Amino acid sequence: MEKRSFRRLGRTVGVVGLGAWQLGADWGQVSEADAHATLQAAVDSGVTFIDTADVYGDGRSEQIIGSFLKDHPGLTVFTKMGRRLPQEHANYSLDNFRAWTDRSRANLGVDTLDLVQLHCPPTSVFSSDEVYDALDTLVEEKRIGAYGVSVEKVDEALAAIARPGVASVQIILNAFRLKPLERVLPAAAEAGVGIIARVPLASGLLSGRYDETTTFGADDHRNYNRHGEAFDVGETFSGVDFRVGLEAVGRLRPLVPAGATMAQFALRWIIDQPGVTAVIPGARNPEQARANAAAADLPPLSPETREMITVVYDELIRPQVHDKW
Ligand SMILES: NC(=O)c1ccc[n+]([C@@H]2O[C@H](COP(=O)([O-])OP(=O)(O)OC[C@H]3O[C@@H](n4cnc5c(N)ncnc54)[C@H](OP(=O)(O)O)[C@@H]3O)[C@@H](O)[C@H]2O)c1
Repeated sequence: MEKRSFRRLGRTVGVVGLGAWQLGADWGQVSEADAHATLQAAVDSGVTFIDTADVYGDGRSEQIIGSFLKDHPGLTVFTKMGRRLPQEHANYSLDNFRAWTDRSRANLGVDTLDLVQLHCPPTSVFSSDEVYDALDTLVEEKRIGAYGVSVEKVDEALAAIARPGVASVQIILNAFRLKPLERVLPAAAEAGVGIIARVPLASGLLSGRYDETTTFGADDHRNYNRHGEAFDVGETFSGVDFRVGLEAVGRLRPLVPAGATMAQFALRWIIDQPGVTAVIPGARNPEQARANAAAADLPPLSPETREMITVVYDELIRPQVHDKW
């Protein structure tokens, strides 16, 4: 698999990683055996980079990865912190950072976390000197090797990129979320900040597997957070109305190259964007993990195809999402 570099970290990873939210079984069941099989399939397919968080399954995702790491010590694991308490500015303190990272270190079974990301904190946190000083202290204490941020909005990403210690920015980027292409990716590339493209399949919508009759379980955010009832609506289907998303998928489907699935096509489009370091699809089973990794082997999409994706975005998706994040 093609490798790309987190330059400020001095670390290189396979361009397709694995998002591990679903391994926490917060939304839809994933047994521990299935979780291990999914991790193994990903690694066997060339994945070297895993994204998780301390709140995924309240630590279950980290613990499963931690037990897997014992036999696969070379993997790069980024976790996140900041959502175990209400997301209020005052809670982003050195004492809380120490407690949260100590818990993640225990869950993952490592002395030093490869990197910890602030997990979509309030906007004011991104311009707080005290917060960055506290993160630098965690590095000095060797609790963490480095830090990054996960953001909802492009302005938050730009504020973080301007800080010299920020090694990575995680942001929603997919064929239904083009805004980061305008300023965030160029700024990150210039500064040497890694970009992690999350929710790359628009919560599965861009896999092309769903239709008007598709339903999701009561415990699945694609049911209970469809209108942002529980957290930022942008995390579910990238904030796109489900029916509009299906219409856009119908327009994109003829563009999928022969021999590729629609999910692979959607991932390849992200890999093709200059400035992207890694894309982290959330695979629910070994088949999905293998198929997602194989997107790295596809040839880049043609300029005509990329242009058509932009046309579909402009006509159907842009009015719903572009000015919100
Ligand atoms: N605030 C944050 O920082 C934040 C928020 C959200 C996500 N994330 C990170 O981003 C990662 C990915 O996000 P996500 O899981 O929400 O969205 P996603 O990767 O866009 O979509 C995941 C869903 O896509 C479907 N899928 C995956 N691979 C497939 C394949 N090869 N073929 C067909 N369908 C496939 C599965 O749907 P089915 O379940 O229907 O099989 C899966 O549940 C997370 O695991 C997490 O690490 C971070």
